[in-house]
Amino acid sequence: MQNSYKRVDAHLSSLGYCSRSEIKKFLKMFSVCIDGQRIFDGSIKAHHNQITVENEALDPQTLTLLMNKPSSYVCSHSDNGKLIYSLLPMRYQRRNPQISTIGRLDADTTGAILLTDDGEINHRLTSPKSSVKKIYEVTLAEPLKGDESTIFASGELLLRGEKKPLLAAKMEVTTPTLVKLEICEGRYHQVKRMFGAVGNRVVALHRVSFGDFKIDDLAFGEYKIV
Ligand code: URA
Repeated sequence: MQNSYKRVDAHLSSLGYCSRSEIKKFLKMFSVCIDGQRIFDGSIKAHHNQITVENEALDPQTLTLLMNKPSSYVCSHSDNGKLIYSLLPMRYQRRNPQISTIGRLDADTTGAILLTDDGEINHRLTSPKSSVKKIYEVTLAEPLKGDESTIFASGELLLRGEKKPLLAAKMEVTTPTLVKLEICEGRYHQVKRMFGAVGNRVVALHRVSFGDFKIDDLAFGEYKIV
């Protein structure tokens, strides 16, 4: 797939620059070159790295982004609410294959989320075997009782409606209502359900890191190519 050889209109449409039907207009309006030579015919074939648009190299053929997800955005593609994808430039939104989140965060959860159009990476990082480490900052409604970290570390906690206990999770206490939780699974509403299982309630949830990817200085809604 890297540096594939195909028609310029196919490159530009799959990368979201314009649709196949818009290509004529696009090539008139913008300087698209192959090896520095301007072209007006979208059917010409070229390698990805031979093509420039307005003297800029094309966007990468596969794109993976790390975003600091703001609250109230959803990771789904089909929802009436605000979609996380609307925070991306239109060109990224129009890519085909489309960009999707790697796993999901709840609408009210903030922090580290990867987005990619690379199906192989997405599958690898979301497969039940992947065991990517995720670290969450969890704000609780009630002060800790004291036995939570032992329960979470036991590898025996069974969530309601499930048959398989959770893998051991590591909890670090910051204050009686603020903890860091490290988990390596991604079950549905896992963190909220874990604290529900020990008689507490999560009032704010922020993912600090997903595997080696840390939010660091990204503001809410910002992203970077990784
Ligand atoms: N666990 C949750 O409960 N919600 C999230 O968004 C992520 C992990």
